[in-house]
Amino acid sequence: MKKVLFVASESTPFIKTGGLADVVGSLPKCFDKEKYDVRVMIPKYLCIPQEKLDDITFLTNFYVDLSWRSQYAGIFVTKIDGVTFYLIDNEYYFAGPRPYGNIHEDIEKFAFFSKAALMALPLIDFRPDIVHCHDWQTGLVPLFLKEGFRANSFYQGIKSVMTIHNLKFQGRWELQKVKDVIGMPDYYFTSDKLETYGDANYLKGGIVFADAITTVSKTYAEEIKTIEYGEGLHGLLNSRRNALRGIVNGIDTETFNPETDPYIYKQYNARNFRKEKIKNKRALQEELGLEKDDKAFLIGIVSRLTDQKGFDLIDCVMDELCQENIQLAVLGTGEEWYENMFRHYEWKYKGKVAANIYYSEELSHKIYGASDAFLMPSLFEPCGLSQLMSLRYGTIPIVRETGGLKDTVEPYNEYESTGTGFSFKNYNAHEMLGVIRYAKDIYQSKKREWNKLIDRAMAQDFSWKRSAKEYEEMYDWLSN
Ligand code: ADP
Ligand code: GLC
Repeated sequence: MKKVLFVASESTPFIKTGGLADVVGSLPKCFDKEKYDVRVMIPKYLCIPQEKLDDITFLTNFYVDLSWRSQYAGIFVTKIDGVTFYLIDNEYYFAGPRPYGNIHEDIEKFAFFSKAALMALPLIDFRPDIVHCHDWQTGLVPLFLKEGFRANSFYQGIKSVMTIHNLKFQGRWELQKVKDVIGMPDYYFTSDKLETYGDANYLKGGIVFADAITTVSKTYAEEIKTIEYGEGLHGLLNSRRNALRGIVNGIDTETFNPETDPYIYKQYNARNFRKEKIKNKRALQEELGLEKDDKAFLIGIVSRLTDQKGFDLIDCVMDELCQENIQLAVLGTGEEWYENMFRHYEWKYKGKVAANIYYSEELSHKIYGASDAFLMPSLFEPCGLSQLMSLRYGTIPIVRETGGLKDTVEPYNEYESTGTGFSFKNYNAHEMLGVIRYAKDIYQSKKREWNKLIDRAMAQDFSWKRSAKEYEEMYDWLSN
């Protein structure tokens, strides 16, 4: 039996700010349970809703030394769908209304978490063959494993994997402060190790010291080796190209299943969507105050509202777009500028645009179920899960050809009657508008063609089956 520990800053069902939590919460249960014992470790944030913690039990506690500080760490455990989850408790670091706050606080918080995660292992009697780290918050783990903990025989031979879900976030902060927090010698703070452009950089540490590096799609694995997408680390990623691979994300096909989804208004499947899916559209139009119009091309957006997602393109052509018979149902939170932008368009185009500026699992499912199309014009997209959820619900994605969007949405070809969505290449608002208009025309004047698109979209398999196999192969290769 191979043992693997996922270390991450968020996971469903406990706490989620984006796709990372979906991945960490849904992938572990998809490994072959006869051969792989995959467990998960996350922080026990105070903002995790109490009802999600009803079944956890306290295991033990210990103290973590960070230079001159000595901090309490408790370990809680629970099992969900056969997967063991450990939660690291510390009410000083993990307070606050959200998992992440100011970067200078987060830097110390995740140094603590990374060290605590490793120190917990002998106490919980779990010696993994591989520690699988996710994003910058756990970037110090490979460094600690290879260097800081090397003298302790318990840790010798444990391999590490660093998965990059988003290269934009690297955990960068003043060198001196980081030295003071993690208490490792100057030797580690040079440009071939933790230092970048004068700062210390956690993700860089992970990339340098991990035994293998992955990211969440094949295209993004190529893109990040270029100056355009490399976020200052393309040189390093090139030098580690032999250790880097792209493994595309999957989704939890049980949680996201239009046939059984309790959140949507009317369940449907690949056989009866022609009659049933429209009922979801009508109900959503009613709930969100959109005009009741079967013919209006209803476009959904469920997203963090940040520059990454391409909303400046939408801003640029919104007035032109709203001259058409379209509707836009938006659900998202994030940068104030984008939140107000969508509120403004709702005010300006009442009945056509609905801006829901909050977080809601339930409304997200309703939008995936009810919309005709789903818009994701990202500037960059490591993988993207929303387009996979949309495909599962027969809601046709309109995406920019970047990262995982390029790998998972096959562009519609009207001559061959192939494809599962619509896409455009350049980061250009009118190129996007052209594609939206094209999709709308198919929807409004070639309904049979549109329904065939839905047939193909719903027939896609984006479960974790294939990708879990690729991770298993990598684990085998690393630990043999
Ligand atoms: P990212 O991780 O970059 O945010 P992904 O497409 O990988 O993008 O994943 C986003 C996840 O977060 C999806 O599960 C999506 O449904 C969910 N999500 C984003 N914003 C909201 C929101 N306001 N309410 C509910 N779910 C949301
Ligand atoms: C990041 C990326 C997103 C990806 C998710 C899960 O948040 O922005 O593209 O799907 O991680 O890997």
